Amino acid sequence: MKQLVISKIKEGTVIDHIDAGKALLVLKILGINENTRENVSMAMNVPSKKMGKKDIVKVEGKFISEEELNKIALISPNATINLIKDYEIQKKFKVKLPKVVEGILTCPNRMCISNTSREPIKSRFYISVDEEGVAAKCHYCGRKIRDLAAYI
Ligand code: CTP
Ligand code: ZN
Repeated sequence: MKQLVISKIKEGTVIDHIDAGKALLVLKILGINENTRENVSMAMNVPSKKMGKKDIVKVEGKFISEEELNKIALISPNATINLIKDYEIQKKFKVKLPKVVEGILTCPNRMCISNTSREPIKSRFYISVDEEGVAAKCHYCGRKIRDLAAYI
């Protein structure tokens, strides 16, 4: 079988098993843009035994933060993180969906106290998963949202 190969990286982070089509969102979450100097590669819609199709993102020199991990989990709960040093995988783990996220999602309800208050109130959402995927419920107004990428 012919194989598509994206080069291995020397040191940094490989985000694998991203839901097909979500790699661009992952790049956005990681703050990768036209000013980024690091070596970044990505693949979209590549074949995967586990998932049918998947996306991959590799960033040389990047060590991912807890907040970035939580955001990635919200949009792609099956993603795996590989931390690479000297070409070897030092650590491999699956992202973990947080039960509660604060200050990460913005409530779409304009009347919600998290949007209207003059006092800065951090948003707070409760995360759940069902057949339709990941959902989040606002602590303040009860609004339930899906397709969370739109609210990050
Ligand atoms: N990888 C990389 N650079 C390295 C080592 C690994 O870019 N120096 C990438 C691999 O290309 C792969 C991912 O990190 O996309 C995980 O590597 P590995 O565990 O070797 O692959 P699999 O066994 O396919 O992983 P999994 O079991 O998680 O599917
Ligand atoms: Zn709300």
